[in-house]
Amino acid sequence: MEPGFLADLYADGVHHDAAQPDRLLRRRNLEPDTAALLAQLVRIAGARRVVEIGTSNGYSTIWLALAARDVGGRVVSVDTQEWPGLRTNLRRAGVSVELRLLEGGSYLAALPSGSVDLLFLDAERTEYEGWWPHPLRVLRPGGVLAVDNVLSHPTEVAPFLALIGSESRCRSATVPVGKGLSVTWLGH
Ligand SMILES: C[S@@+](CC[C@H](N)C(=O)[O-])C[C@H]1O[C@@H](n2cnc3c(N)ncnc32)[C@H](O)[C@@H]1O
Repeated sequence: MEPGFLADLYADGVHHDAAQPDRLLRRRNLEPDTAALLAQLVRIAGARRVVEIGTSNGYSTIWLALAARDVGGRVVSVDTQEWPGLRTNLRRAGVSVELRLLEGGSYLAALPSGSVDLLFLDAERTEYEGWWPHPLRVLRPGGVLAVDNVLSHPTEVAPFLALIGSESRCRSATVPVGKGLSVTWLGH
């Protein structure tokens, strides 16, 4: 990967989004500090089976894929649409990712139980609650569930976080990085 590629991609996304009035047409890339933390979680957890819901143009996907590669794993990233530049960005970053054009909840519902080491949710926040129990069911014991925007949009994610909180096997923390990252460890 060329030096500065990820920083340039992020800066380009900020510039693009500032000129785009339609929220759903904005890339809404993860903040770099959040992406760096998420990547470290992948490495520290030794997460080899990583799933991301909400690919956009691949910014967070690249961070996840670089980290997964470090631990011998790979990333499946799911989005309802394929964004312009996505495949070029992945190629320029030199990462191989399995892309799935699907609705995130349907994708999770079809996965076997315990088949994911780390799940990252970065799609439409109000939909997560309707995906229950699959975001937790697909995780292996000791797996990690990360959810962005929990401080920027607390009301939207509250019902979903309450479901996680109702699970005695879950240990959660909110990290005040970027827009707020909720990190849950699923106990045995
Ligand atoms: C905040 S952006 C993702 C940003 C991306 N993770 C990044 O950091 O570059 C949200 C993405 O979720 C996708 N999305 C929205 N609803 C979805 C759903 N139900 N299933 C899968 N993807 C969805 C959108 O198309 C959009 O690309």
